[in-house]
Amino acid sequence: MILVTGGTGYIGSHTCIELSRAGFEVVVLDSLANSSSDVVGRLEQLTGKPTVFYEGDVRDEALLAKIFAEREVTGVIHFAGLKSLSDSLRDPLAYYSSNVAGTVAVLKAMQVAGCRTFIFSSSATVYGAFQAMPVNEDSVCAPITAYGRTKFHVEQMLSDLQASDPAWGIVSLRYFNPVGAHESGLIGERPLGTPANLVPYLAQVAAGERSALKIYGRDYETRDGTGVRDYVHVVDLAKGHVAALQHLARSRGHLVVNLGTGRGTSVLEMVNAFERASNKKIACEFTDRRSGDVDVCVADVSRARDLLGWSAEHDVDRMCIDAWRWQSMIDA
Ligand SMILES: NC(=O)c1ccc[n+]([C@@H]2O[C@H](COP(=O)([O-])OP(=O)(O)OC[C@H]3O[C@@H](n4cnc5c(N)ncnc54)[C@H](O)[C@@H]3O)[C@@H](O)[C@H]2O)c1
Repeated sequence: MILVTGGTGYIGSHTCIELSRAGFEVVVLDSLANSSSDVVGRLEQLTGKPTVFYEGDVRDEALLAKIFAEREVTGVIHFAGLKSLSDSLRDPLAYYSSNVAGTVAVLKAMQVAGCRTFIFSSSATVYGAFQAMPVNEDSVCAPITAYGRTKFHVEQMLSDLQASDPAWGIVSLRYFNPVGAHESGLIGERPLGTPANLVPYLAQVAAGERSALKIYGRDYETRDGTGVRDYVHVVDLAKGHVAALQHLARSRGHLVVNLGTGRGTSVLEMVNAFERASNKKIACEFTDRRSGDVDVCVADVSRARDLLGWSAEHDVDRMCIDAWRWQSMIDA
């Protein structure tokens, strides 16, 4: 059985479906800090199986011990944590507590239970600015936010842990920009308040819930002056976790892997793709650059292909079609 922390969240819920499709049994632990208990029922609807769900915090050691005592957990995929770059600068202790102390608690419980298979949700934000593109996993990391540093510290901790006990099999997955939703329209990203990411914002503008998209900067050194990023469909990303788990069935160590498409899309290209998907005109307003934003951030995806046998399949049109379907369902 695979313990999925943060399993009712955006990426976690899609991963539960792909795990189930691949024949894994799943147990979910989530505090519902940034998700809803509705997702549990939707997972049951999509997988056709009951969802084993524990509501609680990953820092709750007694609860972790109970889960490991009650379930035969053979591996953990650890999504639970906080993810806003800007909030992490305002309240770093909340981020270190949730993301670093939370991970320590999960790893300690695994150690006691004798479970040594762990997949960690890391992020391309660990690379920071000024990298040669496409960026590969051996690039020097220099995260520029507290959030990015929590991810980087955890990766380093995982290397130390694996070095101390070679029985551990660990994969840190550095996600680029996850977007889109499940094609059923039943699960997707549900941002609280103003969306921090481009595609949920675009969806709300297309739905008439916001007047215009603010584009930060049009003087980047890119083909149209707007920032270029590597967007990856959340279902592809979810399948990357299954591939990582399958890799750990045959090998130990701590492997760090980028999950992206290797292709860059500018903000304006994404706006066009969303207009095509929604058949709506999206108003845009240009404003100043944000500090720390880079011109281009695109993954070198060769390690994922060579070692995990994984490549993303969906293009940005499909990402926007699925994101728009999801937006239309939540507005219905
Ligand atoms: N979405 C992205 O753009 C992105 C990019 C890179 C990395 N990541 C990482 O991937 C992981 C999942 O991201 P997501 O987009 O699905 O976020 P999400 O907020 O939708 O999911 C995280 C889930 O964890 C739960 N949670 C938060 N703190 C918890 C705690 N202390 N104990 C138990 N549950 C807790 C939340 O309720 C939520 O359901 C996070 O670790 C995030 O940092 C996300």
